[in-house]
Amino acid sequence: MTQDKQTWSQRFEKALHPTIARFNASISFDMELIEHDLNGSVAHTKMLAKTGIISADEGEKLLMGLEKIRQEYRAGKFHIVEDAEDVHFAVEKRLTELTGDVGKKLHTARSRNDQVGTDTRLYLREQIEKIRILLRRFQEVILELAESNIETLIPGYTHLQRAQPLSLAHHLLAYFHKVERDWERLGDVSRRVNISPLGCGALAGTTFPIDRYYTAELLEFEKPYANSLDGVSDRDFVIEFLCAASIIMVHLSRLAEEIILWSSEEFGFVTLTDVCSTGSSIMPQKKNPDVPELVRGKTGRVFGHLQGMLVVMKGLPLAYNKDLQEDKEGLFDAIKTVKSCLEAMTILLHEGLEFKSDRLTEAVAEDFSNATDVADYLAARGVPFREAYNLVGKVVKTCISSGKLLKDLTLEEWKELHPIFAGDIYQAITPYQVVSARNSYGGTGFEQVRTEIAIAKNKFSCLV
Ligand code: ARG
Repeated sequence: MTQDKQTWSQRFEKALHPTIARFNASISFDMELIEHDLNGSVAHTKMLAKTGIISADEGEKLLMGLEKIRQEYRAGKFHIVEDAEDVHFAVEKRLTELTGDVGKKLHTARSRNDQVGTDTRLYLREQIEKIRILLRRFQEVILELAESNIETLIPGYTHLQRAQPLSLAHHLLAYFHKVERDWERLGDVSRRVNISPLGCGALAGTTFPIDRYYTAELLEFEKPYANSLDGVSDRDFVIEFLCAASIIMVHLSRLAEEIILWSSEEFGFVTLTDVCSTGSSIMPQKKNPDVPELVRGKTGRVFGHLQGMLVVMKGLPLAYNKDLQEDKEGLFDAIKTVKSCLEAMTILLHEGLEFKSDRLTEAVAEDFSNATDVADYLAARGVPFREAYNLVGKVVKTCISSGKLLKDLTLEEWKELHPIFAGDIYQAITPYQVVSARNSYGGTGFEQVRTEIAIAKNKFSCLV
């Protein structure tokens, strides 16, 4: 790529070194912004014509030229001129080819600094909405899966040690709520993406009588930035988005990790269907959980982009610095990654998992995860909880040494431990009852879970 020395101004005598030109250029990745660049230029042109900075006739010509470029681009016929450094120059050069000298007026009262900020915001605003739709779809599938698994029991863990049994629906719904916050968070970020830097100029505003409110309105921004230096130097919204994207990935990655564990021989809670699992090239017996593993793995790069952007920004004096060109590749990649992971996880949940209910039933019955319920049994009958807790600790110890579970103790043995125990202790410690009894607000009790699902569905039907 050779750089036309005329790109900037006559003060340059020599062309850029070709390697430096390539190093400097962003065209290889910022073409992603072209439709938004055109939208920004259309609004800018209309404003220039409305304020009389260019004539109505010139405005028409520019608009026609921009439209032509859009058509060329959509038809795959937009050829990037050889020395275009970035999408902004590429469009302006093509416009000048199409419209002659009038094309050279497009950049009046504007700089690439406010232009690139405008394009990035328009692009991100659109992408955020696409991601929010994917989040909703993911939630929808979680809801469906939860609804059909209210009374499926699964061991619940703390410290990855069996703690208390849960309704599988309750476990899955935890992700519904996490993702609900993701959806809200993106909506909040969007408010700060939606501010117009157009008209901030290079850094200080412009001598022309522009109307920034008009361009903001045309581009459906909520308002223009109130300070031109802030407008061209602000990338907070990119950082905020990358942070929200990272949190989405945390959620997906945690679920992915659980699915990987659940599908292992050791847990055996779930089998992956053929549509979502892969084989090994050497071990014919294997079914690998590549989808959740990839989601877990890709999480790292989204975190990396957040960290990268924070570091790019931390030492920048106001206002624009070329370092800001580094905002795009990470942003684009984070968007692509979050979208693909959301799509893959949604498919995995929808048609990739078969919960093994026999194994789950067995799992919740073969441990001491009902021990708290024995303590609660005593506490509900007046024994102070700490005393009850210590007593049950002893019982568990004796059971372990004699190879028994709590359900295997005879009524006599129970009564020896404490005279309050009666025949209803057996019912109180069945896994079904243990789950069912946790009917406190937000708990795993089946009634609670049914209410939780009904509320989610109701809210959902209003939103979607
Ligand atoms: N390609 C540049 C970017 O992405 C556009 C802005 C260039 N501005 C400048 N003053 N060199 O940031």
